[in-house]
Amino acid sequence: MPKFYITTPIYYASGKPHIGHAFATIYADVISRYKKQCGAEMFFSVGTDEHGSKIAEKAEAQNKAPQKFVDEIAEDFRKLWKVLNIDYSDFIRTTSERHKKGVSEIIKIIHSAGDIYEGIYEGLYCVDCEKFLTEKELKDGLCPDHLRKPQELKEKNYFFNLKKYLPSIRQKILDGELKIIPETRKNETINIIDSGIPDFSMTREKLVWGIPYPPDQSQTIYVWVEALMNYLTILDWPQGELFKKFWPADLHIVGAEISKFHSIFWPAILASVDLPLPRQIFVHGLFTVNSQKMSKTLGNVVDPLKMIDEFGSDVTRYLLLSQFPAYQHGDIKEQGFKAKYNDDLANGIGNLFERVAAMILEYKAELTGEIDSEIKGKVREAEENYKKQFEELNLFEALKSVFSLAKALDKYINEKEPWKTQSSLVLSSLLYGIEEVATLLEPFMPQKARQATAYIDGIKKRKILNSEKLNLFPRKL
Ligand code: MSP
Repeated sequence: MPKFYITTPIYYASGKPHIGHAFATIYADVISRYKKQCGAEMFFSVGTDEHGSKIAEKAEAQNKAPQKFVDEIAEDFRKLWKVLNIDYSDFIRTTSERHKKGVSEIIKIIHSAGDIYEGIYEGLYCVDCEKFLTEKELKDGLCPDHLRKPQELKEKNYFFNLKKYLPSIRQKILDGELKIIPETRKNETINIIDSGIPDFSMTREKLVWGIPYPPDQSQTIYVWVEALMNYLTILDWPQGELFKKFWPADLHIVGAEISKFHSIFWPAILASVDLPLPRQIFVHGLFTVNSQKMSKTLGNVVDPLKMIDEFGSDVTRYLLLSQFPAYQHGDIKEQGFKAKYNDDLANGIGNLFERVAAMILEYKAELTGEIDSEIKGKVREAEENYKKQFEELNLFEALKSVFSLAKALDKYINEKEPWKTQSSLVLSSLLYGIEEVATLLEPFMPQKARQATAYIDGIKKRKILNSEKLNLFPRKL
């Protein structure tokens, strides 16, 4: 059985989860469910990133000990993944003992490889990004993403000799040995390398809320460096059976703003430890909400729990993935959720299922199992396109292929007018068609798809009465 290891970013335990986090995690979950359906043995990792200045600041502002603060937020993430039906294998927290122990061991190896040197860091640091910025990156003296003045730092740091590994990483990216998807992100990464990226700092001198740096315990490890290592510590590197089975990662799902850390820094760290590099990194676009960046000050942060209250978890999964192709940045129209639900699900797929079921039940159609070749062709076409889109990790387009099949079935009903003919060939073909729609929807909306499949099965076995409606997606007023 082939194995497949997929990861999501581990989110900062600095505030409640929002739909950006939900989006990336649902994306990974859908791919994971699809791979599982294709027969892969999966490991799907999620978690929370719990150290660093930002979290220390937020905890202090709430008068809480940092550990207590992150314990609560980690719990919020776990709860959200549960209601969203995220079928993950394990949840890693960077304040856990297993993570801290693994990180210290990894650092020792990098240190003995001679890849760390002492220096002075003098420059700017954005606490909200948890990263060093250059003057060029600022907008009116502020971090362009957080509109916050960066801290001016001058401190002793330990630096990682990134330069040593850049040529080989560059080559691996070009050869596709380390595949960065989509192509535009791959080119962007090569440009960053070619523009002369500096070595990065591995430590912080004055920050207490972090993992002590083993060779000099007066410093802590820079939060990004240890966060990346979660992909190994969750597998109990170096001796764990999981590590032996699942490393290297087959797919890291990351957002565009953290691509550099995953596509350049992480492979360099792995090369220093002499471990195989991940196979693929999928860099998804970020979305704005109602054309604006989500921000607490603007008050447009969408709470996934509120969305789930209104639409249920499967529909929330669908609404988030069907807004824009993740190859690019996009916009989410909160006001449009209900209309989209009614158009695509209630009046679209839901209505198709009801119509087909109602006719079969009413006409007591004989289901011979014989299928019209026209419908067989449409199903094959949808399956092929769906598979191709999944291989390219393009879930927006994969969904489109399911909806094209549903539209083709609607058209077939209108053309064949089974209410006049009560043709058992037409009705059997339609039932076959909607069963296929349900199967293809399963990774996206697992509960709804299973409910539909069970109902269709009931029709086949003549266990469903004429009065029993599926009512998969009731219209919303
Ligand atoms: N802790 C780091 C990641 C470390 S991974 C070793 C971090 N955390 S984060 O909480 O800021 O989450 C960032 C990720 O959340 C993005 O890369 C993306 O996957 C997801 N999203 C956050 N906001 C988003 C949008 N507005 N749109 C889409 N996804 C978003 O960075």
